[in-house]
Amino acid sequence: MEFSVKSGNPEKQRSACIVVGVFEPRRLSGVAEQLDKVSDGYLSNLLRRGDLEGKSGQVLLLHHVPNILAERVLLVGCGKERELDERQYRQIIARTINTLNETGSMEAVCFLSELHVKGRDTYWKVRQAVEAARAALYNFNELKSKKEEPRRPLRKLIFNVPSRKELTLGEQAVQHGLAVSAGMDVCRNVANMPPNICTPRYLAEQAEKMAEGYDNLSVTTVEEAEMEKLGMNAYLAVGRGSEHESVLTLMHYKGAPDDQAPIVLVGKGLTFDSGGISIKPSANMDEMKYDMGGAAGVLGAMQALAELQLPVNVIGAVAGCENMPDGKAYRPGDILTTMSGQTVEVLNTDAEGRLVLCDTLTYVERFEPDSVIDLATLTGACVIALGSHASAVLSQHNPLAHEVLNAAQQSGDKAWRMPLWDEYQSMLDSPFADMANIGGREAGTITAACFLSRFTKKYNWAHMDIAGTAWQGGKEKGSTGRPVPLLTQFLINRCSSEATE
Ligand code: BES
Ligand code: MN
Ligand code: ZN
Repeated sequence: MEFSVKSGNPEKQRSACIVVGVFEPRRLSGVAEQLDKVSDGYLSNLLRRGDLEGKSGQVLLLHHVPNILAERVLLVGCGKERELDERQYRQIIARTINTLNETGSMEAVCFLSELHVKGRDTYWKVRQAVEAARAALYNFNELKSKKEEPRRPLRKLIFNVPSRKELTLGEQAVQHGLAVSAGMDVCRNVANMPPNICTPRYLAEQAEKMAEGYDNLSVTTVEEAEMEKLGMNAYLAVGRGSEHESVLTLMHYKGAPDDQAPIVLVGKGLTFDSGGISIKPSANMDEMKYDMGGAAGVLGAMQALAELQLPVNVIGAVAGCENMPDGKAYRPGDILTTMSGQTVEVLNTDAEGRLVLCDTLTYVERFEPDSVIDLATLTGACVIALGSHASAVLSQHNPLAHEVLNAAQQSGDKAWRMPLWDEYQSMLDSPFADMANIGGREAGTITAACFLSRFTKKYNWAHMDIAGTAWQGGKEKGSTGRPVPLLTQFLINRCSSEATE
């Protein structure tokens, strides 16, 4: 689908449809009022007769409105004007897209981007509208034998901005929104793919496929044989019980001179987490196909980055692995020597993510990173603490933590900081090894991050636990595409702050 911006009068749009807002109770938005005037009160008459209250999500499609060049006018309820917030704005856009898609308009000019959303400018409103629209249009039907497509799908959507001055900003917003959306689609597609297809090798292949499209993106892999040589025994241990070989995929994006230290994004890529010998209960175990949500997030962020061709160096590390129980599987009681030399007593084979990540975090030291951010569906405790709305951010480096939190705030991809104080470290004490791989019942998200912190001493590091945000259950089950918006924003910010320095 195509997106663009323009600045014009609503009554003069020769389009299949124009989209304007109506507030509750029965109040026309500024643009709707303009249409009302030229149509001799056509809209206000309808409202007076009670055809539309203006409640958020209500829609009314009109044909042949007098003196208006567009074939149709779609009135969209926006709720009470003062209460229009970011979340509602996105919902209204999604509702609009679904309505347009089902009602035969193949193109439309949308004036909802002119609504007032507290604290947000035109750039934000256009970008969020593009992202919300693309998210609404997403579906995963690759594995259905019969695909359902709308008969006359929406093909072209134009967002109107209040003045010509804002066109350039609007165009940039469309560009950014499209890149984020492309990244989210990649993330969602790979995360939704079932674990019999989406294996560690599949993750590597997806990265390679992406790299074919960009000259400055290349891919290498670390195979099990090399992991043996490097002493990545924690990573290897997790994959032992699986028929699928572990693969660490490295995506190298070069957007700046070689002497610029890279940002490294590390993603937990458990293509299935059965728990291993400490096997999980069977209810909803299928959801553990999403345990590669961090890896999917890295793939998505790399896609957005390559699309935008940002002037930074970034390395994506996709830590592919499968955690299964069999005769070769690692067991509780095993003591593993990690690549860093530190030893770990395994007390629970279901705390596998940190074992895969710890060796990957040691491996990426060789890139002498400016900063490292890891993304992982790491703990059930995170879902208990924050639910599905915010990802957890844990870091001992305040400036990096704030950069991540700012990116979350700007992109609408929410994140919340949790403490990573030294007081928690002793929960990982083991009588036999340097540390245990679990810290007990309390503060599970924090002790998991404490574990990782012991492998990240050589660079600035932040950890994101995305267990609650990477996918949703229930009726609309599936990957959410998060934290691609946050990561993309983080990278955009890195580039603009460097340009102004
Ligand atoms: N992948 C899971 C975490 C998870 C659980 C994410 C539920 C989303 C929903 C992780 O590998 C895991 O099993 N963690 C254990 C750690 C425990 C054994 C210390 C957990 O959270 O129960
Ligand atoms: Mn697990
Ligand atoms: Zn896991």
